[in-house]
Amino acid sequence: MIDLTTNYLGFKLKNPVIASASPITNSLGGIKRLEDNGIAAVVLHSLFEEQINHEQKVLDHFLYKENDSYAEALEYFPTDMQFDNLDSEHYLEFVSEVKKSTDLPIIASLNGVSDAGWIKYGSKLQEAGADALELNITYIPTSIDMSGAEIEDMYIKTVKNLRQHISIPLNVKMNSYFTNPASMAKRFVEAGANGLTLFDNPINVDIDLEELSAIQNAHLTNSKDKSESLRWCAILYKKIHADLCINTGIKTGQDVLKAMMSGANSVAVASILLEKGEKYLYNMLLEMEQWMVEKEYESINQMIGSISLNHTDNPSAYERNSYMYALKHFKI
Ligand SMILES: Cc1cc2nc3c(=O)[nH]c(=O)nc-3n(C[C@H](O)[C@H](O)[C@H](O)COP(=O)(O)O)c2cc1C
Repeated sequence: MIDLTTNYLGFKLKNPVIASASPITNSLGGIKRLEDNGIAAVVLHSLFEEQINHEQKVLDHFLYKENDSYAEALEYFPTDMQFDNLDSEHYLEFVSEVKKSTDLPIIASLNGVSDAGWIKYGSKLQEAGADALELNITYIPTSIDMSGAEIEDMYIKTVKNLRQHISIPLNVKMNSYFTNPASMAKRFVEAGANGLTLFDNPINVDIDLEELSAIQNAHLTNSKDKSESLRWCAILYKKIHADLCINTGIKTGQDVLKAMMSGANSVAVASILLEKGEKYLYNMLLEMEQWMVEKEYESINQMIGSISLNHTDNPSAYERNSYMYALKHFKI
């Protein structure tokens, strides 16, 4: 009997595969289907800083500016504002509904960057029943006067502030836009993160030649996209006191095994579920088990970190040393 269990953020997971935030984790039906097909935990779709701030602005507008006439005040709100106003309340209701309906660990997700009032929302998510909280923190600076150090400090302040508002485990979903992502990972952990997800998949920018305008697209990934996550996970393994989750480009059972060997305790998947449906999870888990039987592994724990920077016979694969070798041996 193969043991696929692993620990992440203090939860004992039945296997390492977590559903990353996506439209599937946006509905109870999607989450139930994931549970039925073997998912170990779920990250809910994100509640965005802009949504919470928008709600606060609407509330301020209502309470302080137009409080002389209720009916009149309502007319000031365009329909989309009313809709946004409901968003964060709906999110809280959704968290408690999901918690009542499944036995899975449920990780609520906040998406934002600033160290401002919205962060207090973390405590509401905890009260609503979230087992853990993920903070997706990515800021694209368009000011050329803003230094990397300023942005990094802003991130750290945000994590520290959120940590003060919650007692449940905190997972930081990082991006890889740092000169030294490992140093940022260490700082996130010192600021209070219990787990780190490496890495968020950047939203693509393109230009629409018909509309003559810039556009942004969320897009699906492929297995090759996990390269940076593998590299930095292998570098971080055993160097920080936090669990590691590999995200971006985990598409097959073999990808999951590679993530574990680089030092991850879990993986988070979105594209593969959107592409092939929740039932595909069964294939991923089966492929892992078959490989493990063939190679005589008994448990996932045996392989965690076995090809991390500390343990591999070929550490240069993760370093600059092998760059020249890789170029020399390039084949088409
Ligand atoms: C349509 C779509 C919606 C997403 N929504 C969110 C979201 O709300 N919050 C978040 O943190 N990530 C979101 N993501 C990113 C995924 O959670 C995940 O990090 C990314 O797709 C990389 O994982 P993958 O290679 O398994 O797809 C979304 C991705 C897609 C494709």
